[in-house]
Amino acid sequence: MITVSLPNGIALRRARPGDAPGVRSLVEQLGYAPDSRAFSETFTQVARHPEAAVFVLAEGTRVVGYLAVSHRPQIRLGGRVAVIDELAVDPAYGERGLGSHLLAQALELARGLACVRIEVATARSRDSFTRGFYRRHGFVEADTALMRLI
Ligand SMILES: CC(C)(COP(=O)(O)OP(=O)(O)OC[C@H]1O[C@@H](n2cnc3c(N)ncnc32)[C@H](O)[C@@H]1OP(=O)(O)O)[C@@H](O)C(=O)NCCC(=O)NCCS
Repeated sequence: MITVSLPNGIALRRARPGDAPGVRSLVEQLGYAPDSRAFSETFTQVARHPEAAVFVLAEGTRVVGYLAVSHRPQIRLGGRVAVIDELAVDPAYGERGLGSHLLAQALELARGLACVRIEVATARSRDSFTRGFYRRHGFVEADTALMRLI
């Protein structure tokens, strides 16, 4: 795992309700446009969920990156799986190690929970996929087809 220290002035912490607008603008950069009420409710639910965690990187009150991770026991694995659900860094703050720092935090949480698997589903069309962001951090592609109904 690549470990990186944070640039001066940027702090990592668990998300709080006041971070919702900042996280929303990063979600929009990811290409999603949820209804604002539904977004706020879901953000609060995930941030408070006992089997999830949301981390933010903030410069003062400005949210410059966020990561959401969830975890649950899986019968066939005989243990807990952790899933990186969302990860985004403000492009103005990109390539300074912030994404790696957030990812390291999620991996530390997963290891602390003794997760037997850590995974992420990401779009092949994303720049981060073609540039090998996750591969660089040791992830390997699984022979899994992701099926969707809605
Ligand atoms: C992927 C992402 C989180 C990386 O954040 P970051 O803070 O730039 O990442 P880091 O600075 O820790 O690492 C950058 C490294 O990853 C590589 N990289 C991969 N994808 C990249 C991207 N989209 N932008 C910048 N660097 C990227 C760089 O080449 C760099 O490697 P190097 O240090 O060997 O040159 C950020 O680009 C982002 O939010 N992208 C849009 C959303 C996304 O793709 N999320 C991940 C899928 S869920």
